[in-house]
Amino acid sequence: MKSLLNSLTIKEKIGQLAQLAPFFFISNLSVEVTGYVRDLHLDKDKIFSSGSVLGIGSAEEMIKVQKEYLSNSRHKIPLIFMADIIHGYKTIFPVPIALASSWNPDLAKLTARISAVEASTSGIHVTFSPMADISRDPRWGRIVEGFGEDPYLSGVFAANMVEGYQNDGIDKPGNLASCVKHFAGYGASEAGRDYNSVDLSRIQLFQFYLPAYKKALDAGARLVMSAFNTLDGIPCTTNSFLLRDILRDKWQFSGVTISDYDSLQQTIAHGYASNRREAAKKGIIAGLDIEMASTTYLSFLEELIDSKEVDLTLLDEAVLRILELKRDLGLFENPFKGADPELETKIVLSEENLEKSQECARESIVLLKNNGILPLKNTQKIAIIGPYANSKKTVGPWSWHGLRDFHETISEVFEDQVIFTSAASDQNELTISDLAKIEKADVILLALGEFDQQSGEAHSRSDITLPGNQASLVELVKRIGKPCVVLLHNGRPLVIEKILNADAIVECWFMGSRHAKALKEILLGRVNPSGKLPISFPKSMGQVPLYYNHFNTGRPYLNELDDNEYVSKYLDIDNSPRFSFGFGLSYSTFSFSNLKLSSEIMPENGSIFVSVDVLNEGPYDGLEVIQLYLRDYVGQVVRPVKELKAFQKISISNQEIKTVSFTITLADLSYMMPSGEMVYDKGEFCVMVGNSSDKLLHANFFLC
Ligand code: BGC
Repeated sequence: MKSLLNSLTIKEKIGQLAQLAPFFFISNLSVEVTGYVRDLHLDKDKIFSSGSVLGIGSAEEMIKVQKEYLSNSRHKIPLIFMADIIHGYKTIFPVPIALASSWNPDLAKLTARISAVEASTSGIHVTFSPMADISRDPRWGRIVEGFGEDPYLSGVFAANMVEGYQNDGIDKPGNLASCVKHFAGYGASEAGRDYNSVDLSRIQLFQFYLPAYKKALDAGARLVMSAFNTLDGIPCTTNSFLLRDILRDKWQFSGVTISDYDSLQQTIAHGYASNRREAAKKGIIAGLDIEMASTTYLSFLEELIDSKEVDLTLLDEAVLRILELKRDLGLFENPFKGADPELETKIVLSEENLEKSQECARESIVLLKNNGILPLKNTQKIAIIGPYANSKKTVGPWSWHGLRDFHETISEVFEDQVIFTSAASDQNELTISDLAKIEKADVILLALGEFDQQSGEAHSRSDITLPGNQASLVELVKRIGKPCVVLLHNGRPLVIEKILNADAIVECWFMGSRHAKALKEILLGRVNPSGKLPISFPKSMGQVPLYYNHFNTGRPYLNELDDNEYVSKYLDIDNSPRFSFGFGLSYSTFSFSNLKLSSEIMPENGSIFVSVDVLNEGPYDGLEVIQLYLRDYVGQVVRPVKELKAFQKISISNQEIKTVSFTITLADLSYMMPSGEMVYDKGEFCVMVGNSSDKLLHANFFLC
């Protein structure tokens, strides 16, 4: 690759760092082009020396763009095609926050695998996924794109996504290169407002926010996307502490870095660069390789190199990494890699892939409340009311290629049992004749929730209750005296205090192509629910940020019986969430007993074996998630009250007891100091095992 690099002119090298939209190369595209790039006017030389393309609609378009490019460029280095394949390409899987609720990382791998196979037939080479941003603030709309509040769970899911996309090598057909994003700390945006400032201490950054990206990179992710926010007052896109000190020096990352959409140019709005020229200079010096959507590199890098303000070696290093990625993708052998208009139509939306989507959806549903009304009987007459009763918008945000019309609605799948459906989102929208029909039903399903576009990028909310007057539907059904099951649709935790008196509450999130079918299986008890929340649900917006792995404080609030006034609490509400991290019911009851440690002493070079008995008290076979948390009682810096360190999802038959075991090693007890140094503490630790972060058996041991 070095000789290819040396054969390029400076202009051509700079071109490799530019990522443009496909419309620069051809017109009449199927994908809509929005925003700043639409208004750019670039000359032909710049266009035909650029290095990659953002978003492409089909194999045919990809082939056209690549052909046009290769016939017009001097060096004939193929373009890389990148796109956002977030939770499926044509076959849509549960949104990431839902997938994380499955606590089954194999499913993450599976969804990524199928997405890669489908998307690569359209000629896509890189996906901007996974999003490994931790968030503790449900006002932030992008919570839907991530795996929740916990570094360990998010890291495991992010790593499995990477493995699914990249599979046995990015050069092989049907595989994509994975770009982990948004580096770093994007989910900590203040007040949950998207694109807002982030203020993270080094402890927060190292212990909670960085580990999930790191796991994705350890799994082999080939690219890293910088975040829109600032960190320590410096935009992440031009932040050399992140892009050089952490990524390159500490983590030895040798892949490609890429800005977020237009984020290099946005350093001007941040007040970190006075103009586009300075933005370009700061970007390349900080270690940013590809500039997505804006064109400050194209416009100013040459001049910056000529004036010796930027060293040519910085440009060469960045270009070499991009050329190596092209080589590893196999683009020099086949610039049209993957793009296959015929296969594209055959492979996508196959029944087999849809089946897999349903499998993922089944495990992603979380049962939050059940007073015994569920499972329903297939002889019961059902009324379905609410904005999602007849809606096809259950695929969720960020599914640009997902074909909505193809999916069944909830009313459609219950066809033989439904006696009434209505899209009403307020009791006042129902007429007297509607009420008469509803009264004939045995059970009312209320398909409620946020609208699908109320979460996702730029979709933060200050009020995270159910929109409008949807809660009034629960009041109505209670007044009528019928059992009522709420089916919640949302891309973030909601405050649902007003509907807690429903007989059952099912967290559906947005589950993709087979949303309704999977839901039916759960509601009728053909599948026993097994999802667990990957994020806490607050009782009140005033509790946010609310997360299970908090510090103890100097004046911890123990419980409601504690009448000490001067403790860390509110006057008007207790500290606990409505639904805790790791919580989720089953139609069976699982009881935990016999927590045993192989020893009360763990030597530094040794390990401890933990076992627990889990009994399925029945009455159904089911899957249960066994969660292991640790607490380090005294640290060199204060440590969280508990941290998830391991989990296993296992199947346990009705009345069966299974003994589940884990091994704890020094790595589980170690953590990062603000300096970035990894340390551990000798002394007492607590190990906790159970099926929710608020329901755990405890045992202590000493590290000696
Ligand atoms: C988003 C990224 C996405 C990129 C390209 C940005 O607005 O923040 O997550 O990958 O656009 O579509």
